[in-house]
This record gives sequence, C-alpha cells and structure tokens, in this order.
Amino acid sequence: MRHFELLLAFLFIIGGSTREIEEDLDTVDIISHYGYPVERHFVTTQDGYTNQVHRIPQGRDSRTIGGCSKRPVVFFMHGLFASSFEFVLNLPSQSPAYVFADAGFDVWLGNVRGTEYGRNHSHFSPKEQQFWNFSLYDHSHSDLRSQIEYVLKETGQENLFYVGHSQGTAVMFARLAEAEPAWQNKIRAFFAMGPTAGFIKPDLPFELLENHEIQRLIQFVLDGRFGIIPINIPKPIVSALADVCGQHFLTHFCASAFYLSAGREKLGQMNETRIPVFVSHFPSTTSTLNLLHWVQIFKYHEIRHLDLGPKRNLQIYGQTEAPALDIGRINVPTYLYYSHDDRVTDERDVNEIIIKRMGPALKEANNLDHFSHYDFAVGLRATDEVYKPIIYQIYKDIENDGC
Ligand SMILES: *[C@@H]1O[C@H](CO)[C@@H](O)[C@H](O)[C@H]1NC(C)=O
Ligand SMILES: *[C@@H]1O[C@H](CO)[C@@H](O)[C@H](O)[C@H]1NC(C)=O
Ligand SMILES: *[C@@H]1O[C@H](CO)[C@@H](O)[C@H](O)[C@H]1NC(C)=O
Repeated sequence: MRHFELLLAFLFIIGGSTREIEEDLDTVDIISHYGYPVERHFVTTQDGYTNQVHRIPQGRDSRTIGGCSKRPVVFFMHGLFASSFEFVLNLPSQSPAYVFADAGFDVWLGNVRGTEYGRNHSHFSPKEQQFWNFSLYDHSHSDLRSQIEYVLKETGQENLFYVGHSQGTAVMFARLAEAEPAWQNKIRAFFAMGPTAGFIKPDLPFELLENHEIQRLIQFVLDGRFGIIPINIPKPIVSALADVCGQHFLTHFCASAFYLSAGREKLGQMNETRIPVFVSHFPSTTSTLNLLHWVQIFKYHEIRHLDLGPKRNLQIYGQTEAPALDIGRINVPTYLYYSHDDRVTDERDVNEIIIKRMGPALKEANNLDHFSHYDFAVGLRATDEVYKPIIYQIYKDIENDGC
C-alpha cells in the first residue's frame, strides 16, 4: 500500500516533541479518558481466536431513543491496518463511536484477529506461523460472525445496525453474500463507508502483481515454505514517527503523506494537530496471507474465497476456481457513503462493482465531495456529512418500524 512507503520514508527523520496523551492509551482507556462508560469483551471464534470487542453502552447522558426499552445496537468494524481505535481518534464530537453513543445508541467496536486486540489463540502463539494463517475470508466468516452473534446474545436484541469502514465493509459484503436469510436478518441495516468489494482501476501498484507468481507465492505460504508472517511496523519506530509528526514544522509534511496515500482531498478535513495520535495507532497488523487475498480481489474485481490454486481449490471447494461471493444475494438494506476523491475505493469501483451488482437491497449511494479514504473515520466533516445522516436514517427506521 502506498501510505506504507510514505510512512517508511519518515523513519529516517529523528526528533522529539511533547506527546498527546492518546498516543499511549488503548481504545478502552481513551474512551474512559473522555468520560464515557466502557466495557472490554472477549469473543472466541470456533477456530480458537479470542478477539476483543469494545463497548460504549451509553453516551455521556442517559438518553435513550424514543420509546425503546433498550438502546439499539450500532456495531462498527474497522479497516485494513486499523483496529477499534480508528473510531475514537478525534474529539468526542468528531469520532463516530462517541457521536453514536451520545445519539442514544449502545455502541460496539469489533476487532479482527491479528490486530493488537486479536492476538490470542487457544493453541497457537502469535510467534507461531500457524497463528497468521488467515485472510479476509476468516475475518468475515469467523471474527465478524462470532462478534455479531455475541453482541446480540449479550444485549438480548434480535438485530443490530452495522457500520463498516473499508475492509470493515468488505467483510460484511462477504458475510451477507454467503449467509442464509435468517442470518442476514440479524443485520437491520448496513452502512458502508468507503465501501470495498473489488477494484477495477488500473493505476494501483497491485496491478503489477496480477500474475501467476502471486498464485505460486500463495502455494508457498500455505505450505509454510515462505512463512506466514505478520505485517507491521515495529512499535518503537511508530513511536519515533509519531514524535516526528508532532513537530510543528513537520506536521504539514506528515499530513501531506496521509493525503497523498488516501485521496486527492486536500481541503483540510484532517485535524493536523492529531496526526501524531493517528500515526501512533496506525498501521495495525495483519497477515501476509490477508494481503495476498486483497491482491486477488484486485485480480478478480470481486471478493472470492481465497484462491488456493486449482489442486487445493478442488479439495476444499470442490471446484478448481475459488468460489465467488455474490453480493447480489444480499437482502439487508444497504447505504453507501463514498467519494470521488477517495483514491483507495473510487467512484468507478463503487458504480461497477457494488451499485450495478447489488439488487433492490441497495437503498442509497451517497457520493460525497472531498473525502479521502481515511476521512470516513477521521475527517472533520464526517460527523455532519456521514454520521448524522446515518443516525437520522436509523431514527427514521425506528420511528417507522419500531425498536
Ligand atoms: C485469551 O483468551 C482466553 C479465552 O479463550 C481468555 O480466557 C484469556 O483471558 C485471554 N487472554 C488474554 C491475555 O487476553
Ligand atoms: C493453513 O491453513 C490451511 C487450511 O485453511 C492448511 O491447508 C495449511 O496447511 C495451513 N498452513 C500452515 C502453514 O499452517
Ligand atoms: C484538533 O485537535 C486538538 C487536540 O489534539 C484540539 O485542541 C483542536 O480543537 C482540534 N481542532 C479541531 C478543528 O477540531
């Protein structure tokens, strides 16, 4: 990913500065630092991973939503190289987790395996290769599914509202594409920010990788010959980077790196003062195999099961090709928030891959001006242009169809 190279470019600049307190706190501590009630939950998947799910059961006052005996649940899922932290990176009026809690919802923030909140397995340590033998499909089929089911059980609700960002939308597209109608009913509405279900654009470096070598590499990885390894930048380096970006004369420079990597948007949506906080928590970790699965999403222009090569495909899927996950099967009301200024998921990807392929479940496709890929989580205009419209849509839904 391009932002990776740019972040790495700063590694050689050394500096020191005052640190913002949030740089050293985890998601739960930061929520509590801002005076919100918070809970840490542990959800174990059938294949042995225990991921943390963070909950803000109510906002700073005890408001509820018109006539509902329990606060409706809004579940958030983060993007690639992020974690639940991406929803609490700004001030309370600007970060979706708090905005939704203060609007009267019971807010849950999911985390997938491999992130700092998903490094616990019943048999494998994160030091072992087997721990990192997962990809997007496992996030969708196991992490996401187990967390949704857990939250419904814990709250006694029949369904919940789902907000995903980037990979957090891909995992829900994949889940709903394969889920039975009874499971789909657990999701009352799906709000997709920076929605990603495939790419058609030709100008990303991934294009270069669209060749047979990738398949060979995947065979190597699966055989344990290449090594299934986590992809991350060591914490001390990230800390140094955060310090560097915290220096006033460099803040603009660091901001430009974010802008360049995620979109053409340069109109000042990002709070540049917060960049050290963003950098200290980003990127989080994922597996090599997940990145290879993302490469396949570029290659096939859609989300499929992991392509294991003809021989293994035949053994596991009963066919030589990796089965596609058809988003036309989705019947959950879906609302898209995307931007023609987002360089990761652009307008064409959304039109050709999501809008044209989804059936009547697609309710709205909102094309916003001047949002980069990150702005859906950290942009200063996101509260007014994305979070509030989602909240009004949910209020309307509850007014029409009950709690
Ligand atoms: C790891 O998960 C198990 C449940 O599978 C839990 O009992 C344990 O507390 C977790 N450990 C950590 C360090 O989170
Ligand atoms: C990774 O998992 C697949 C099945 O999902 C298995 O066939 C393969 O042997 C595993 N590889 C390693 C190195 O654990
Ligand atoms: C940017 O963040 C700082 C705190 O890090 C805060 O004091 C300031 O008000 C924020 N600016 C805007 C425009 O929200």
